[in-house]
Amino acid sequence: MIKLDGKDLAQRIKLQLKEETLELKESLGKVPGLAIILVGDNPASKIYVNSKIKGCSELGFESFAHFLPEDTNEEKVLELIGELNEDERVNGILVQLPLPKHIDEKKVIDKIALNKDVDGFKPENLGLLMLGDKDSMQPCTPAGIMELLRAYSIELVGKDVVVVGRSNIVGKPMGSLLINEGATVTTCNSKTKDLKAKTSQADMVIMAIGQAKFLTEDMVKEGAIIVDVGINRTEDGLFGDVDYDGVSKKAAYITPVPGGVGPMTVAMLFANTMKAFKKVNNIR
Ligand code: GUN
Repeated sequence: MIKLDGKDLAQRIKLQLKEETLELKESLGKVPGLAIILVGDNPASKIYVNSKIKGCSELGFESFAHFLPEDTNEEKVLELIGELNEDERVNGILVQLPLPKHIDEKKVIDKIALNKDVDGFKPENLGLLMLGDKDSMQPCTPAGIMELLRAYSIELVGKDVVVVGRSNIVGKPMGSLLINEGATVTTCNSKTKDLKAKTSQADMVIMAIGQAKFLTEDMVKEGAIIVDVGINRTEDGLFGDVDYDGVSKKAAYITPVPGGVGPMTVAMLFANTMKAFKKVNNIR
């Protein structure tokens, strides 16, 4: 069994971005800037946002953090995004999801300028992704998984892949990226009839449903590749969507939680911010 070490790969990507940032600072006198908006005090979101801010400072990126109270109204959030759209120091705008219920996620994403959509959540970017355009901004989690699979030279052509999860952020774009690489993709969800019949024939299973230890040893075939997107905080600790101890006995490759997909998601956010910076500055 080979552990797909996202922590190590993310570190290498970040090191490269850090060196590039230093060069840009010397040649252009400016660096990529990322604005991060968090509304409310969801503890998990706070942890993610703080790690993104810390990452910016490690890389030499500028960060512009906006922590807004839970009761902030939609208009205020849209107004802030409007200001950030105009701010030349800001190359990427990230609004941490989920948003409080009184704020319309669609309106918020619509407001973000296309060339600052470092999450790749806008319809234009998702459409380009579906069409196989490699220059568009891709959502960070699926993009990070593709990088990780590439780093371990995992062939996708002709593979039967089951994606469990159908969110706009992970499941749907993940399916498209895999299809573009020649995989045969089945997209399931937690309500899929006889999920085990599907996962147990798959060459690769990607779990993204947010239920701790949902995928068990009896649900996978010998030699399968297992990718775990889940980050579930329970009373007993932090677990992925995969029952790691059991499944790793049968898997050929598996991502750990933590240290698998999570760090790759954050690394791709910085890579997208660099991409946005270069585009606006006509570099390469
Ligand atoms: N919430 C969970 N994952 C993500 C992500 O990739 N981007 C944003 N903005 N919010 C998230």
